[in-house]
Amino acid sequence: MGLRTILTGDDPALRKQSRVVTNFDKRLHSLLDDLAETLEQVGGAGLAAPQIGVLRRVCIINIDGLIELCNPHIVVADGEQEGAEGCLSLPGKTGLVKRPNHVTVEAQDRNGKHITLEGEGFLARAFCHELDHLDGKLYTDIMERFMTIEELLEPDEEEE
Ligand code: NI
Repeated sequence: MGLRTILTGDDPALRKQSRVVTNFDKRLHSLLDDLAETLEQVGGAGLAAPQIGVLRRVCIINIDGLIELCNPHIVVADGEQEGAEGCLSLPGKTGLVKRPNHVTVEAQDRNGKHITLEGEGFLARAFCHELDHLDGKLYTDIMERFMTIEELLEPDEEEE
């Protein structure tokens, strides 16, 4: 299918629980390919299937390379980071969000093979953010507040 439309704002699909993937077939592969193509087009760190209206536990992350995750779950989370977080489904907004600084994720690849991945810092944040989408959660549910343009333009002013 190629490029898909990213759902935004109050679209109900963004608030639904996604279903577990059981068939690692051509249909799943084209979903993953479409997610990658769409993410590449719009630019961003990650995209989850519900954001294109497909309620499956599938997401991708593109930080130093493409990661495909099917049925992912966090098995270890530790540390804490506080920082800016955005979402392609909430364009033009950035929240101040606390996340674990390190996570271990278990998932399956596009062929159903079990994989374990580690993420630290921004990658850990991306894992948490994309996995939340699979449970109908958005960062605005847990953020401290929206960040102002001034704050975003002056990173040097940020506290330690
Ligand atoms: Ni998002």
